[in-house]
Amino acid sequence: MKQPLIYLDHAATSWPKPASVGEAMLEILNGPSANSGRGNYGMALQAGRTLFQTRLKLAKLFHVENPNNLVFTSNTTEALNLAIKGILQPGDHVIATMVEHNSVRRPLEYLKRTRNVSVDYIAVSPEGKLDLDQLKKAFRPKTKLVVCSHSSNLLGCILPIREIGKITHKHEALLAVDAAQTAGGYPINVQTMGIDLLAFPGHKGLLGPQGTGGLYIHPDVDLEPILHGGTGSQSEAMEMPTVRPDRYEAGTQNAVGIAGLGAGVNYVMEYGVEAIYEHEWKLAQQLISALQTIEGVSVLGPGPGKPRTGLVSFTMEGRDASEIAFQLDRKYGIAVRAGYHCSPLGHMTAGTTQGGAVRASFGLTTTSEEVHKLILAVQTIAKDT
Ligand code: ALA
Repeated sequence: MKQPLIYLDHAATSWPKPASVGEAMLEILNGPSANSGRGNYGMALQAGRTLFQTRLKLAKLFHVENPNNLVFTSNTTEALNLAIKGILQPGDHVIATMVEHNSVRRPLEYLKRTRNVSVDYIAVSPEGKLDLDQLKKAFRPKTKLVVCSHSSNLLGCILPIREIGKITHKHEALLAVDAAQTAGGYPINVQTMGIDLLAFPGHKGLLGPQGTGGLYIHPDVDLEPILHGGTGSQSEAMEMPTVRPDRYEAGTQNAVGIAGLGAGVNYVMEYGVEAIYEHEWKLAQQLISALQTIEGVSVLGPGPGKPRTGLVSFTMEGRDASEIAFQLDRKYGIAVRAGYHCSPLGHMTAGTTQGGAVRASFGLTTTSEEVHKLILAVQTIAKDT
């Protein structure tokens, strides 16, 4: 398969991965490891150690005291489904925002239909500022949960989680955060930020393989499991085990993927999350400054110089986003994402429900030269009407 010359879709999946990620996966795949928790022989214990090592590293990264409060899932969507469906009961009220991805919106809308849960979506300005006054007024006696994106996958804005956490806890509700766009690329401390549930992907900023992710569950949060099955523990019980992580990890775990994720987290921690943020932020600024000078091009989200994650979405007047992305790929070998980004709410906020947007997103391996080539390509496309 022809590889893109320039890969700018890290917000969907980071690529390429550090060599250590593949090496760690091969070591588990081909080395002596069996099914974790299903045997007392050396090979099964080895698989258990692999899972625990990755849990330990994630705990360090997110400032989680007890690694057993981190459970593995196959992606952020599964983690968010566990958080949302495991908390909300019939008649509950939940608050979300107008930049949520469908991985939050769809479970909420499903519970609205099937469990009589009511939902309020708090406004976010097109520049990515959450309306905190509206949030404060949205709480009701039945508000159980606030669930919000740490950073919009369309706008790149970063929501004030610490402040949201304080407001949420004042109303005795829980805070669930979707860290799909921030885990590994922006500092996260579940303790100081007041996060009760943190859903994160393994395959984006943490540099692991697809099919990995997880959920942090605060020790005091009583979450109903949504998956039921074998865990290799308390097997005589008809219910899921009470101990974590087993309570939420039914079935054989993805030891190969989790080994890769552990290597990815190592890489991120050695490089430093702040340094990664700075690298990606500078690239975003380079692109924004140049796009703003091209006639007909509008950049979404926070303006120049403002905090944002390493992604920039834009539109071109009178042009379809998918057509621009197609040209970038075919004529210039540049891979970007276009369309609706699974975030119709984000598009309502940005005013881009017609035609969608083009999104370029950066990773550790992205260079300023690559961003420059994207700028030149967009300039040329803008002239070809
Ligand atoms: N949610 C991912 C994205 O924004 C896949 O592209």
